[in-house]
Amino acid sequence: MVLVSASLFAALVTLAAATPAELSAYVIHEQRDTPARGFVKVGPAPPSKQLTLRIALKPNNIAGLEEELYAVSDPKSARYGKHLTLDEVVKYVKPTTEALSAVNSWLDANKITAKTISPAGDTLQFTVPVSQASSILNAEFASFTHSGRNETTIRTLQYSLPADLSGHVAYVHPTTSFTNPFATPRIEPYDVKRKREMDPNCADLTTLSCLLEVMGLPKGPATQKKNVLGISGFLNEFANFNDLKDFLARYRPEMPSSTKFDVQLIDGGSNTQLRAFAGVEASLDIQYSVGVANGIPIRFISVGPLNNDELGGFLDQVNTLIADDSRPTVLSTSYGFDEQDLTFPVADGLCNAYLQLGALGTSILTSSGDGGVGGHARFCDTFVPTAPSTCPWVTSVGSSQTILENFTKNNFSQIAASFSTGGFSNYFKPPTYQKADVGTYVATINGYEGLYNKNGRGIPDVSAQGVNFPTLVGDRWTLASGTSASTPVFASVIAFLNDELMAAGRPPLGFLNPLLYSPAGRAALDDVSVGKNPGCGTSGFNATTGWDPVTGLGAPNYARLRKAVGLA
Ligand SMILES: *[C@@H]1O[C@H](CO)[C@@H](O)[C@H](O)[C@H]1NC(C)=O
Ligand SMILES: *[C@@H]1O[C@H](CO)[C@@H](O)[C@H](O)[C@H]1NC(C)=O
Ligand SMILES: *[C@@H]1O[C@H](CO)[C@@H](O)[C@H](O)[C@H]1NC(C)=O
Ligand SMILES: *[C@@H]1O[C@H](CO)[C@@H](O)[C@H](O)[C@H]1NC(C)=O
Repeated sequence: MVLVSASLFAALVTLAAATPAELSAYVIHEQRDTPARGFVKVGPAPPSKQLTLRIALKPNNIAGLEEELYAVSDPKSARYGKHLTLDEVVKYVKPTTEALSAVNSWLDANKITAKTISPAGDTLQFTVPVSQASSILNAEFASFTHSGRNETTIRTLQYSLPADLSGHVAYVHPTTSFTNPFATPRIEPYDVKRKREMDPNCADLTTLSCLLEVMGLPKGPATQKKNVLGISGFLNEFANFNDLKDFLARYRPEMPSSTKFDVQLIDGGSNTQLRAFAGVEASLDIQYSVGVANGIPIRFISVGPLNNDELGGFLDQVNTLIADDSRPTVLSTSYGFDEQDLTFPVADGLCNAYLQLGALGTSILTSSGDGGVGGHARFCDTFVPTAPSTCPWVTSVGSSQTILENFTKNNFSQIAASFSTGGFSNYFKPPTYQKADVGTYVATINGYEGLYNKNGRGIPDVSAQGVNFPTLVGDRWTLASGTSASTPVFASVIAFLNDELMAAGRPPLGFLNPLLYSPAGRAALDDVSVGKNPGCGTSGFNATTGWDPVTGLGAPNYARLRKAVGLA
């Protein structure tokens, strides 16, 4: 965020809509020189076009909520597992009365009625014509297109707010953030008639039985009905019930053929069952959560196109779950953004929403991306970390794969999958639980000066198998690979732990990272120390002993994780 001193702009701005009493100097609130890579300006935005804007007010005490999150998720804490209630969370996030009165008098002066659209009342939304948006924000809204996508996006490269309001506002959106969500598992056709899946070492093909064996997972069925594993669905990705049925018949025949998943629809979402509409990402996520987490209630949370968050529905989804008493205990999200496409205030706002969901007791797992150190950017001058993985309050999942080298029965060697995105945030500092690991790793990096942030939160946190998952998509077999595959797998492992904990009368795990980075957590992960993640014309970072920005702390081992969470 770029803040320019008020005096610079005070003289330049007068507002037609405001009365002299409300006139206050305007200050630039956010500014960028050029649109995000891939976006091209095509002309001014039509003045009469309606634009829905959101004003996010600063939370009154976000540091207080961060402390609370650590208090309930650090195994050393006396309050471990005592997740917060929604009322307790809201207390930290709701804006101050001064902030609310400043924003309300500004809106009143401009004859705008806004509605509150977040549980803590920190986000207001209103719809105005582009012409009015331009005048009240002293902005120049224009139309942009993204190469490869046939739609226009209305954005501005700069906007301002009255000085007396500016200090209370985190951001106004959509303005300077150019969002372009991704979910791109790599796929290749898969001829199931070839007997590739008989490969006993799981190196060539990652079947459900390989996953169960490599991680030592329970066969299930799980017993706790309130232990819901949420699977995010964005970008019109639909998961097909018949595909799931045929997938299970082939790879998990002992599971009942009636095995289904629940569907929650947000923002006009749907889960169209025409088989031709099945999406690779949704099919992969559903088949490898339902299939691995036998008996865990799986909820496909499909976020539709009617979102006004201009973040692909990510923020609407989190806000919905924060307010939902039956929210999942684990949320798996195999979609993301290049961090650089979001401005810091927007990335931070989304991260604060995950902080709230984590404090309520949900474990949030997000895929780290599939382009090595290049994230999902098609061009990179510097390495590209991904959001929301870089948010310190989520658990970012990278990919490993099993190889033949050093293979002995029941002892699988894992190396990094070369696509596994990892690196360091340009927005967030290494959180307490990770600080020492980032420092240690950065000291070993040979070169890459200026290509990454030495003082950034490192991703991923952990990894799981992610290569060559047979997946049935609209009745066609494909082989899917990606951190998109690893994320629902790791989430399923956590869901199983929650199942056992809840059966023993204990709370679900909630925010995972303080546990995972603890000595007991580290000991429960198989360190992946071979491989690298090339990208941006470099050979990327090296996987090493201990945490690394390719595979994090390593891949899960169920027996040791049970021990780490105190299950006998
Ligand atoms: C883009 O969308 C418009 C309107 O939906 C359509 O008429 C046009 O053919 C599309 N162009 C391409 C290249 O798909
Ligand atoms: C296999 O074992 C050799 C010798 O112990 C070791 O150098 C190599 O890193 C191992 N490979 C993997 C993938 O662990
Ligand atoms: C499993 O393989 C690793 C190296 O990949 C080796 O260090 C370890 O001793 C092996 N364990 C068994 C039980 O063979
Ligand atoms: C990765 O390891 C190789 C082999 O040890 C080394 O030459 C290279 O400099 C390392 N890369 C980085 C970025 O440290």
